[in-house]
Amino acid sequence: MNDIKKLISELTLEEKAGLTSGKDAWLTKAVERLGIGQSRTSDGPHGLRADDYSRPDHATMPAVCFPTAVTTAASFDRDMLYQLGEELGTECRAYGVDVLLGPGVNIKRSPLCGRNFEYFSEDPYLAGQLGAAFVNGVQSKGVGTSLKHFFANSQETRRFTSSSEIDERTIREIYLPAFENVVKKAQPWTIMASYNKINRTYATENKKFIDEVLRKEWGFEGLVVSDWGATHDRVAAIVAGTDLTMPATDSDHVIVEAVKNGTLPEEALDLCCERVLELVFKSEEHRDPNAKCDVEAAHQLARKFAANSLVLLKNDGKMLPLKKTDKVAFIGAFAEKPRLQGGGSSHIVETKITSALEAAKEAGIDVEYAPAYNRETGGTDDRLFAEALELAKTAEKVVLFIGLPDRMESEGGDRQHIRLPEAHDLLVRAVCALNPNTAVVLHNGSPVAMPWIDAPKAVLEAYLGGQAVGGAVVDILFGDVNPSGRLAESFPKKLEDNPSYLWYFGEGDTVTYNEGLFVGYRYYETKKLEPLFPFGFGLSYTDFEYSNLRLSRWEMSEDMTLGVSVDVKNVGEVKGKEVVQLYVAPVRGKVIRPAKELRDFAKIELEPGETKTVHFELSKRAFAYWSVEKKDWAVENGRYEIQIGRDSHNVALSHGIAIKPENELHHW
Ligand code: GLC
Repeated sequence: MNDIKKLISELTLEEKAGLTSGKDAWLTKAVERLGIGQSRTSDGPHGLRADDYSRPDHATMPAVCFPTAVTTAASFDRDMLYQLGEELGTECRAYGVDVLLGPGVNIKRSPLCGRNFEYFSEDPYLAGQLGAAFVNGVQSKGVGTSLKHFFANSQETRRFTSSSEIDERTIREIYLPAFENVVKKAQPWTIMASYNKINRTYATENKKFIDEVLRKEWGFEGLVVSDWGATHDRVAAIVAGTDLTMPATDSDHVIVEAVKNGTLPEEALDLCCERVLELVFKSEEHRDPNAKCDVEAAHQLARKFAANSLVLLKNDGKMLPLKKTDKVAFIGAFAEKPRLQGGGSSHIVETKITSALEAAKEAGIDVEYAPAYNRETGGTDDRLFAEALELAKTAEKVVLFIGLPDRMESEGGDRQHIRLPEAHDLLVRAVCALNPNTAVVLHNGSPVAMPWIDAPKAVLEAYLGGQAVGGAVVDILFGDVNPSGRLAESFPKKLEDNPSYLWYFGEGDTVTYNEGLFVGYRYYETKKLEPLFPFGFGLSYTDFEYSNLRLSRWEMSEDMTLGVSVDVKNVGEVKGKEVVQLYVAPVRGKVIRPAKELRDFAKIELEPGETKTVHFELSKRAFAYWSVEKKDWAVENGRYEIQIGRDSHNVALSHGIAIKPENELHHW
C-alpha cells in the first residue's frame, strides 16, 4: 500500500498543483520522480468513447453501443443495470480505461433538454436505484465511475454559465436524492461537478454541496472531478473540494501563487492531492493488461437489454405480435439505419449495427422496405413518399419507423418544441389511411408529440436503444420477446402541459425552477392533468391481475418500518414480465406535497397462470419531506395511502396507513 501522506510530504508545490489538473483530455498527471502513475478516464454512460493512443490522431476506438439511459431506465430492472455495468467494466479493463464517465442521473424537468437521452428519469428514486445498480456493476470489475453531473444540470442552453435557482426543499427532494442514493449504496470512485451554478455559485466551487452535503453528510469517500472545462476559479475549486480539474489546463501556476501568497491554505491542496493519489493507486491496483472482452457476445447482450426496455404504448386489437408468415412492409429509413444513440460526448463508434430490416431478413421474414424520408434531415420528396404509399397499399401489415433525426437532439443544445419532423407525421396519417394494420416504431431520446396517436393500431417506443436495437424491435414485433418496458418519464399531450414550460430556459443566466417539487408525474397527478402516456406506463402481450394487498401494520410511528405484500398473477396466454410499482400518497396536511411519489418497484417474470407475491419494506424516508426548519427529513402524522400502481396514474390496489406519535399507538 502506498504511503500517501509520505508522498505528499515529498511533492514540490508545483507537483502538487499539477496533480489537480489533467495531463490531457483523459489522463491525470504522473510524477515519475516519485513513481506516481496516471489514471485514465473515458466517456460514457452507455459505452466506451476511448481514444486510441496508438494512433497519432487519437481516433476513437470502436466499442459496443449499449442502449442509452433513457432506454435502460424503462426496463425498471436493477439487475439488468448491474449487468450492463459489469459489461462496461469488462470492456473498460480490456481497453485500459480506469474510470468510466457515467452514469448521468440528472432529473428531467422538461422533454426539451438535449441530453435527456443520457439521463434516466424525471423521478429521483428510479434514477437513484438504477444509477446505484450501474455503478456497482461497473465497479465490481475494478473500474471506477463518475456519477454526473452534480447537480441540477437540467438544460443545455447556456450550460456553462447558467445558474439553477432552486428552493431548498426541491433541491433535497428532487435534485439530490438520486446522487445521495448512489453515493450511499455504491460509493462511486468519482463524482463529476457540473457546468452550471446552483443558486449563483458554480457547482465546482460549491463548498456547501461538495463538502458539507456530499462528503460530510452522505459520507462520499471518492474524488470530485470537474466537468470538462467547468472550473472557472482553480483556488475556489480546491477550497470547495473539487480535487481534479479536467481537461489539461495552463493554470496550475495560479495555485502555486495562491499558496505562496497565503490565499490558499496548503492543507486544502494536500487534501485534493491525497484523493488524486488514492484514485491513481486504486486504478493501478485494479488494472489487468491481459483483460479481454467479447464484443460479439456484448452485442447480443445489448439486444437483450434493449428488448427488456422497449415500451409498448398501444396495441389495439392485439395487432402485435405479428406472425412471421405475415407479408410485412417496413416503411421509414430508420428501419434500415436505426437511430440508436445521441450526439455529444457520449457518442460512440459502434462495433456493428443490427437494423430491423437485417434482423427480419435473418429471421426469414418476408419484409419489403421503403425509406419514405431522408434519414438525416427527416424530410421527404414526392418520389420517396409515393413509393412508400404504394408499398403500404399492398402489404398485409405495415410497420412505420419514425422519430427524431440525429440533428434534433444532442448534448450542447435543447429542442424548442417536441414535434416530430413534419414528413414523419404526414407519413403516419397517409399510411394509416391506406392500411389500418399499421404499427409505429419510434426512435427518440425524449418525449415527442403524437397528434396522430389515434391512427395506428400499435405504437412501440424504441427510444435510442443501442447498436442492436433493430434486433430488439424485431424480437418484440414478432413475439420472440414479450415487451416489458415502462416509461421512466411522462409523455405530455402537448409541450405546454409540461410543468416547467412557462419558464424552462430561464432569462439570461438565471434559470428558476419555479415548478419546484412538481416535476413530471408529481405535477400531472397533483394537478389531475392527464398526460398522453403517464410515468410507469407500458403494455404487455399478456395481462396481470393484482390481489391481496396487505400491510404489516395498520398504524405506525415514523421510526418503524412497514411491510407491504401484494400478489400478482399472469392471467394471459404467454409468459411476461410485470413492473410492480409502489407509490406513497401523503397525508393532505399542512405541508405542500405531490399527490404521490414512487417509493419502490419490482420487476417479476410470470408464466401463464403463475402467481407471485411481491414484498416491499418501507422506512421513514418513504413518508418524509425535507423540513427547511429542522434541516432534516420529517414525517407529518396522519393518514397515508400505499398505492400499488400499474403506472403513476392507474392504481391497481391501495391501502391506508396511519402514522402517529409513538405514544398514541394502540398497543394490543
Ligand atoms: C462533456 C460532458 C461530460 C463528459 C465530459 C468529457 O462536456 O458534459 O458528460 O463526460 O465532457 O467528455
